[in-house]
Formats: sequence, C-alpha cells, structure tokens
Amino acid sequence: MKVLGIETSCDETAVAVVQDRRVLSNLIASQTDLHARFGGVVPELASRAHVEALNPLLEEALEDAGCRFADIDAVAVTVGPGLVGALLVGMAGAKAVALATGAEFIGVNHLEGHIYANFLEHGAPEPPYVCLVISGGHTMLVHMPQEHRYEVLGQTVDDAAGEAFDKIARFMGLGFPGGPALDTLAREGDPSAIRFPRAMLDSGDYGFSLSGLKTSVLRHVKAEQEAGRTVDPADLAASFQEAIVDVQVTKTIRAAREKGVGTVLLGGGVVANTRLRERMDAAGEQAGIRVLFPSMPLCTDNAAMIACAGASRLERGERTSFEVGADPGLELAS
Ligand code: KG4
Ligand code: ZN
Repeated sequence: MKVLGIETSCDETAVAVVQDRRVLSNLIASQTDLHARFGGVVPELASRAHVEALNPLLEEALEDAGCRFADIDAVAVTVGPGLVGALLVGMAGAKAVALATGAEFIGVNHLEGHIYANFLEHGAPEPPYVCLVISGGHTMLVHMPQEHRYEVLGQTVDDAAGEAFDKIARFMGLGFPGGPALDTLAREGDPSAIRFPRAMLDSGDYGFSLSGLKTSVLRHVKAEQEAGRTVDPADLAASFQEAIVDVQVTKTIRAAREKGVGTVLLGGGVVANTRLRERMDAAGEQAGIRVLFPSMPLCTDNAAMIACAGASRLERGERTSFEVGADPGLELAS
C-alpha cells in the first residue's frame, strides 16, 4: 500500500510517500527563516506559508517517489495537536487528494506519528513499550501495552523540553529554533560545570517540570555577572542540557522497569539531541532495555512518520470520515 503523508501542524510543510514502512520520498519545506525574526512561530504566517508550499511539495514528493496521484492508495494527514489554521491547510489538501483519486483517508495524531517514526527504521518491535515523547510542545511518558493503545504515565506541568531549549537558546542569543544550536555549543562545554536543579527527579511520579530550570539559568547568569565573573557559554549550555537529559533518562528507564517493558521508543524533535541519544543508549544498555530512536531527520517534524502511523491504522481497518475537523488539543490516549 502506497500512503501519501501530509503534515502541517506547526512550521514545517511536509509531504512523504511511504510503502510498507519504506520511505519512497520525504520532503520538508521549512519556514524557519520566516519566523526567525519574531523569535517564535507566528500562527497566521505559518498557515499562509503552508498554503503556498503544499501544492508544489505534493507534486515534488510524488515525482521523487516515482509515482502519480493515481498510484496513491491512501492519504494520511495530521489532524492534531497543533496550530488550528496550520492543521486545516494540510487537512484540506489531504481530503482533496483522497476525494479526487478515491484513495482511503486517515487522520493521524501528530504525537503518534513521532512514536511510529521508529517503525520506519527499526521495524515494529513486539509491544509493550514505554515511549518518551519530547518535542517543542510536549514532554510525556506513555505506556503502550499494544499498538495504538496509550496510557499517559505523566507529562510536563509547565514548559515542554523543546520549549525550554528554545527559550534558553534565545536568551543566549543562539537564534531560533535554538535546540540544535544549543546542542552544538554544549559539545564544547563541561556538563558538570554548573549544577542546575533536576526538577521532579524524585517526585515518585512520571511528571516533569521545566520552567524552574529556566529561572535557575537566568538567575545564575545574573549572579555571575553581578559578581564580575564571565560565564562560559559552552559550559552553560552543557550544564543546562545535562539537567534536562538527566531527568528524562532517569524517569524513562524507571518507567520501563516499573511497567516491566523491554522496549523504549523515543520520539519528537528533542530526540535529535546528541547528549540525550548518548545517555539513553548507555542507560538502556546498563538496564538491559532496548532503547530505539529514529535517525535525526525523522525525529523532527516530517510526513513519513504520519504516513507510517496512518498505514498501521489503515491495516487494522480504520478509516476517517471527511467530516473530521482539526483538533488543536488532540490527546494521545483516545
Ligand atoms: O517535534 P518537533 O520538530 O516539533 C514539535 O512537534 O514541536 O520539535 C521541535 C523542537 C524544538 O523545540 C527544537 O528546538 C527541538 O525540538 N530540537 C532540539 C534539537 N533539535 C530540535 N532540542 C535539543 N537538541 C536538538 N538537537
Ligand atoms: Zn512534532
């Protein structure tokens, strides 16, 4: 089955063609430059840019995959969570293609897409899994007893991890989005240079809190400046990053142990973080737990992951009505 995937939930217009978990094409028109001067995503600009980018990208993705609209068996599209105006553009395009070609139509939860990105490269390991979904908008631990069944174990009570990366990067003048720049800078620094708090590390649940860490960083820099000392940016980046990674790794492995699962799946933009990948690998090895994460380009938003999750639902006989609307706050467990 050839599935066309469309993803427009935030600031990337993405189109992919996936067949039996093989990525035939996977294209992204990034809007980063458009939003950079505002230091964050401007929803109205995002929607308009999706409108401009979608049609040419559809043509290009089909050409890359060596097929035509008529060869597409199904269309999978992100229906939430995300920016409502942005989601609507992708959904209108997806419905139009499905209607015009007679292809099946399936709506996909963006977070499920991030989890299913793993299946494109690692095959579908036997459930159960514990999943850490960590992106610009979400930070959550999820127990998956079987495919497409989600029990949210805990999530952030304030900022998402990606948001924390972006805010600190912005404070440090590293531009937008800041996660990748901060990751690069941190490689030159000492992660133990500054001991930032590990919020909720021992809270006894699977919740996360990230806004306190941001305040600690700002306070530390101010105090050092007032004392007439300079702060090494690489040390600051590495120490901040380590505080986030420490909590994510510890809680994820703990959840896998307590739930008795042998496989951990990581998904979301922050999984592109070098240090998180290193530390998760090491922790998994030590605990005897298989830790899987997608290759870098499949961690951040893309449409191949949406096609993959959609294909899995279609195989189970699911279909989505054309009546479906965009759901900006769509939950994973539903
Ligand atoms: O999944 P994603 O592409 O979009 C959302 O669904 O939110 O995640 C984007 C987030 C941004 O906050 C970005 O700064 C962060 O992922 N990110 C990273 C890295 N690459 C992307 N954070 C830390 N280190 C990275 N290498
Ligand atoms: Zn995402």
